[in-house]
Amino acid sequence: CGIVGCVGRGDDTLDTLVSGLDTLEYRGYDSAGVALAGPGLDVVKKVGELDALREVLESESPSGRVGVGHTRWSTHGPPTDANAHPHTDCAGEVAVVHNGIIENYQSLRDELAAEGHEFVSDTDTEVVPHLVERELAEGADPEDAVRAAVSRLEGSFAVAVVIEDVEAVFAARQDSPLVLGVGDGATYLASDVPAFRRYTDRVVYLDDGEFARLDADGYAVTSLDGEPREKSVHTVEWDAEATGKSGYDHFMLKEIHEQPRALRQCLQGRVDELGGRVSLDLDLDVERVQFVACGTSYHAALYGAALFRAAGVPAQAFFAHEYAVATPPIEDDLVVGVSQSGETADTLSALREARGRGARTLAVTNVVGSTMARECDDALYIRSGPEIGVAASKTFSAQLAALNLLALHTVGAGDDDRREVIAALRDLPGDVQALLDDTDAEAVAREYVDSDGFFFIGRDKSHPVALEGALKLKEISYAHAEGFPAGELKHGTLALVTEDTPVFAVVTGDGEAARKTIGNVKEVEARGAPVVAVTDGESDVARYADHVLEVPETHARTAAVLANIQLQLVAYHVANELGRSIDKPRNLAKSVTVE
Ligand code: G6P
Repeated sequence: CGIVGCVGRGDDTLDTLVSGLDTLEYRGYDSAGVALAGPGLDVVKKVGELDALREVLESESPSGRVGVGHTRWSTHGPPTDANAHPHTDCAGEVAVVHNGIIENYQSLRDELAAEGHEFVSDTDTEVVPHLVERELAEGADPEDAVRAAVSRLEGSFAVAVVIEDVEAVFAARQDSPLVLGVGDGATYLASDVPAFRRYTDRVVYLDDGEFARLDADGYAVTSLDGEPREKSVHTVEWDAEATGKSGYDHFMLKEIHEQPRALRQCLQGRVDELGGRVSLDLDLDVERVQFVACGTSYHAALYGAALFRAAGVPAQAFFAHEYAVATPPIEDDLVVGVSQSGETADTLSALREARGRGARTLAVTNVVGSTMARECDDALYIRSGPEIGVAASKTFSAQLAALNLLALHTVGAGDDDRREVIAALRDLPGDVQALLDDTDAEAVAREYVDSDGFFFIGRDKSHPVALEGALKLKEISYAHAEGFPAGELKHGTLALVTEDTPVFAVVTGDGEAARKTIGNVKEVEARGAPVVAVTDGESDVARYADHVLEVPETHARTAAVLANIQLQLVAYHVANELGRSIDKPRNLAKSVTVE
């Protein structure tokens, strides 16, 4: 879910909140709402994407000089008007927006209901305004009332509260991101910086267990007990323009085309080609590595683990949610969390578990100042710039590049020639551009858009690419797709392969992995399946394929990045042909901050 808040914007309060929600919609889009206070308290909320709220706001114009807003990704209760945030108390004097899960909400709700409080939604959030109402009724001042209410909550939360006739916003955080924006004569609050980036570049990151009061002329941060906290003000570098669509139909297409730049930024100043060296600001002694991640980042983690193993270092990638509940033994391991957002709750939990057991932790992330970056011992930034499309594209490519840098910096290139790898990385932005300028992905997508299902196969470094190709297609087109290590398809799933299920085979180089994958290609071809080969042309896989998606000749490591980009484009064009909601696929959120 996404939270925004502002104080000091006067008549522009509503517009400020709605424009903030616009940039946060990637965090959830089941419903949206705003509450404005100052004189009185007005709440407007609506199920559906932000446009549905905008439509209602054309006829109802809530007014107020301070406000909060919310865009929701459902955890408790289906997306309905009643379950949309903000939630209010009985008297309609307190409005609350919340991100996270309040674990003890049922007992709080029972306690409040016994005192006569009436609830109108299925959400856990609704207990909060009622708790504040109770404190106010007992004579607490607004700030103390909110602080006392928040102190009763267990679980993960970022909450923001406005109260009738009070010209301040109150907020608190526990395990869910929240950042303040410090403007001139106005103060902002959001789950993520882009929400207020057009107004200010000065930010204060709240930490767990902190409470903030925002006024027009400043802010005060304390612990939940009211102890003052000194906070530093950071200056962010992302420009506000970076979050626009720049003429592309979708953010995802724009982000796919931004990959040359994203990769250049990732590599800049870190690779010394002449000396064959990589220099990162990290001092790590790596004996064994465990990677934890989810979704697309998990596929990057699989690739990263393969790079470390290639250098003779034991390395394994785990789904973060499994790792957190069944943590493997840690002996002097480096535990690397790979996460675009740096906020994924499952990954944070795994890293906390690892730290608790004495591991050294490293965050590989895109977001400077994210919870993961701040909690881990070290951070390696992938420097892609903001990614708005829910389905990750440029950040996956930059993750692969950054993991190459990490492996080269800490354990070397193993059997690969270090200089060749570095040269391939240097050429990668240009190779990506060449691929984007000349690709048949759209034609392939048109040909197969109505297929019954899609399979993706690859070995070694092409294995994570196959998994990612399938995930991308599922996420944005809703087609059924599965990715496999190429050798596995024949052990069961081959039963599903027919002439209506194209098989995308990622085959780069002409080594053993390529040769064996071609064997698997022949197996599916014999069952009548159309084959699309994604290849650099080094092997003769094209002979067995119905279509070929070419990638420029490069090193085996960087070939994975290029092959994946062809599959991003196939997914994009299939979804576009089907008229899907590409940037905001149903049921998904870009950043999942609940476990
Ligand atoms: C969500 C998104 C996925 C993403 C995953 C991990 O589920 O929908 O696209 O890959 O989170 O996100 P992270 O920010 O940790 O990379």
